[in-house]
This record gives sequence, structure tokens and C-alpha cells, in this order.
Amino acid sequence: MRILSGLQPTGRLHLGNYFGMMQPALQLQHEGEALYFIADYHSLTSIQDATALRTNVRDLAIDFLACGLDPTKAVFFRQSDMPEHTELAWILSCVTPMPMLENCHSYKDKVANGIPANHGLFAYPVLMAADILIYDSDRVPVGKDQKQHLEVTRDIATKMNLVFGEGTLKVPEPLIREETATVIGNDGRKMSKSYNNTLALFEDEKALRKKVMRIITDTTPVADPKPTADSSILKLYRLVASDSEYQAMVEDFERGGRGYGDYKQQLFEKIWEFFAEAREKRAGIVAEKGYVEDVLRDGAARARVLARQTLDRVREAVGLG
Ligand code: ADP
Ligand code: TRP
Repeated sequence: MRILSGLQPTGRLHLGNYFGMMQPALQLQHEGEALYFIADYHSLTSIQDATALRTNVRDLAIDFLACGLDPTKAVFFRQSDMPEHTELAWILSCVTPMPMLENCHSYKDKVANGIPANHGLFAYPVLMAADILIYDSDRVPVGKDQKQHLEVTRDIATKMNLVFGEGTLKVPEPLIREETATVIGNDGRKMSKSYNNTLALFEDEKALRKKVMRIITDTTPVADPKPTADSSILKLYRLVASDSEYQAMVEDFERGGRGYGDYKQQLFEKIWEFFAEAREKRAGIVAEKGYVEDVLRDGAARARVLARQTLDRVREAVGLG
């Protein structure tokens, strides 16, 4: 089984990225042939500052490795080291109907949020399809917000097979964990960099505590039982605490007698503890000069062997070269 996923280097990793995409991806590296990459071509649709982009790429690589990506198991690379993706994207774009892209929520949302509508942003799902299809990927672990992009990928692969012959491209399956499909931020909305409501994985202690303390709660008095149904604190605690710890907090909520501030402190401590090992590992990676570059270079060399096979097959099928 070949597993592939990518992350855009658009800012520091947050709990939504970790539980939505990274944790499943990290588990899967032990179950199949995994390929994970930093989607810097994609980020060029929104970051147009060379220094910022390079810094983000490096930070993301460090963070991903710190969280447990094992470069001896998974192939870990930088998308822009693989221009083969953009060549396949062009071929795919020639069978992609315009309305399919016009319907994409992610494009419509970004434009609605004031991000300038450049052609790259519009064509983004085609490049994403190329990222996936060029490795004959079987499974693609992503958060729920990427579901539509995966559908587009499947539609494009199916269309390619229809036009150029069965077996031209492999149709992949998305892998979306429903229980952590959407991690919410400290304002109760989906956690996202664009909403400024994130809890970052490698934030300093004081800043993280402050953000946890800012989680929006209702006005139930301290002495009263607290509603458990839609509590942001409980939803986040569930991700970082054990089942019994989570159950204990639910019962505590139902009993009443403690204020939300106490629960937030408890949540903060669990989050801090959850990433303690990764923090330590991160410091080691940062200290080892040249390590990250070596990992990414080696990853690209391994990825290239696989990408070339698919690209040669597709070029043959469509009549190029
Ligand atoms: P952001 O919304 O902060 O810009 P990205 O779009 O870069 O995050 O998402 C990177 C990956 O993390 C994707 O696979 C996405 O589905 C996942 N992800 C992002 N935010 C969340 C969230 N709040 N809950 C679950 N998964 C998420
Ligand atoms: N679009 C994804 C995101 O914003 C990142 C991405 C690019 C990706 N190419 C991919 C994810 C291929 C999975 C597979 O999170």
C-alpha cells in the first residue's frame, strides 16, 4: 500500500494539522510505503516572499521530523525538488473541466476571505491531483476540508483513464478520520491559521497557556454543572488525554463546583505534556547542522524514481515525446 500526503508551509503547525493529518500519517508510515512532502509550490499561491517561504519550509520539515516522521521509513521531500509534479499537472489540466474547479469550496472560501484570486489558486486542485497521482498512491490521509480535493483527484484520474486508456492512472482513496475530522480552535470555529484561533504545537509555554485560557466558554456559574455537549474544552481535552482522564473531566463537568479556568489549566497541562517528547526531539534536530537538508535531498532522490515511472507511462499514453 502506498500512502501519500502533503502539508503546505504556510505557518507554524497547530493541533488541527496534527490531529487531522499528521497523527494518522505518522501511524501509517509503519503500515505501508509512505511519501510525505512539503507543498511549497502550493504555498506560492499565497506566500510571495522568498525568505518567508524558505523559513516556513525549514520549520515545517523540523516540526514534522520532531513529531515522529522517520525518514528511514517514509520518503520525506520538498515538492519543489520534484518539478515532475508540475508537468503532470499540466497534462491533467487539459482533461479537467472548468466547472469542476469553479465548484471547489476551498477556492471560493479563500476568495471570499480576501485572498487574491490568482490562477495558481484556481488551478490548485489540479496540482494537488498531480502530487497524488504521480506516485500511484493508494491512500491519502488528510483532514475533512481536503475531501473535495480528493474527489476532484479521483474524477481527474477516472477521466484520464477514460480518455487515454484504463490503467493510465491509479484512482486513490481518501483517508479521513471521522473522530478528529475537525479540530476546533479557541473561538469554537474550525482551528485554522486563517482564523487566528490556533494552538500551535511548538509555541512557547506562556503563549500557549494564554491561548488556552482564551477558549470561549459559556457563563455557567462556578457552582453549577457545566454543559458537556458542545464544550470546546472537552473536545480538545479528548485529543490529548487518555479515555479515563477524559471521562473524569466529563464527570467533573456534570458534578459542577469548578470554574472553567481550572479546566483550561488542566487542558493546557495535558497539551504541554502531550508534545514534551516532540519538543525535546525538535531541539536535537535544530542543533544538527545540515540534517534537514540531507533528509529532504535524499527524499527527493527516492521520490524521483517513482515519479518518473508514472510520468513516462502518462507521456506515452497521451502521445508526448
Ligand atoms: P489551515 O486551515 O490552518 O491553513 P491547512 O489548510 O494548511 O491548515 O491544513 C493542513 C492539513 O491539516 C490538511 O490535511 C487539513 O485538512 C488538516 N487540518 C487543518 N486544520 C484542521 C482542523 N481544524 N481539523 C482537522 N484537520 C485540520
Ligand atoms: N492541499 C493540502 C492542504 O492544504 C496540501 C496538499 C497539497 C496535499 N498536495 C497534497 C495533501 C496532496 C494531500 C495530498 O492541506
